Amino acid sequence: MRLILLGPPGAGKGTQASGIVKKYDIPHISTGDIFRKNIKEGTELGKKAKEYMDKGLLVPDEIVVAIVKDRIIEDDCKNGFLLDGFPRTVAQADALDEELQNLGLELDKVINIDVNKDVLIERAIGRRICKKCGATYHVKFNPPKVEGKCDECGGELYQRKDDTEETVSKRIEVYLEQTKPLIDYYEEKGLLVNVDGEQDIGKVFSDIVNALGSEK
Ligand code: AP5
Ligand code: ZN
Repeated sequence: MRLILLGPPGAGKGTQASGIVKKYDIPHISTGDIFRKNIKEGTELGKKAKEYMDKGLLVPDEIVVAIVKDRIIEDDCKNGFLLDGFPRTVAQADALDEELQNLGLELDKVINIDVNKDVLIERAIGRRICKKCGATYHVKFNPPKVEGKCDECGGELYQRKDDTEETVSKRIEVYLEQTKPLIDYYEEKGLLVNVDGEQDIGKVFSDIVNALGSEK
């Protein structure tokens, strides 16, 4: 299954992605995670991406597109993949379309997680992530059993640098301007599934599975 997860910052894309990739046995390709890994490792790509990410701006299309093109032809993507946080502009969507056409592949569905702006800010600011395994928590909506420690691996939880109120507001602004048009873009292609992202995490997941069907 070849899927895209669309939605504003803090909508729950990463949270839902972890369940989807387990259920359908496909790799999780998060452009945000790829950049954060590169920042942590101090690579040239990481240095470049950080300039934009810290300000809540998008990394330039040509950088992101090149990364995704290379990633989706890797062996583990043979039976499909889940793109999380890509595409984010019409230019990125067009580039993906062209690449899939070249490869003779098609997207199966684009899942749009719909959440209102005020909820997004609260979600992003309260988010905590495991340093070791990347699991995502929320101080109020999805707290770990022991404060500051990951349930899965006991790793220490941290807050993302771009999860301040100011940067989240900027990211939402950028989303409305540059990414939201993709809802119509994929609607016109007949690929869009809208999911109400303001329900609890389990209900959002079961709505997604209902829309996708249980076949791998
Ligand atoms: P990226 O990492 O993609 O961040 P984002 O899109 O802003 O999305 P988030 O990771 O903030 O949110 P999410 O939807 O995954 O929510 P989560 O599940 O964590 O991108 C970061 C930056 O990288 C960008 O700003 C840009 O600079 C750059 N970048 C990345 N891709 C790019 C691209 N393609 N082009 C250009 N630049 C790019 O949930 C949030 C919180 O809410 C969590 O605490 C969670 O526990 C909680 N939660 C989740 N679901 C629920 C629920 N149903 N009820 C209650 N709480 C919930
Ligand atoms: Zn962990």
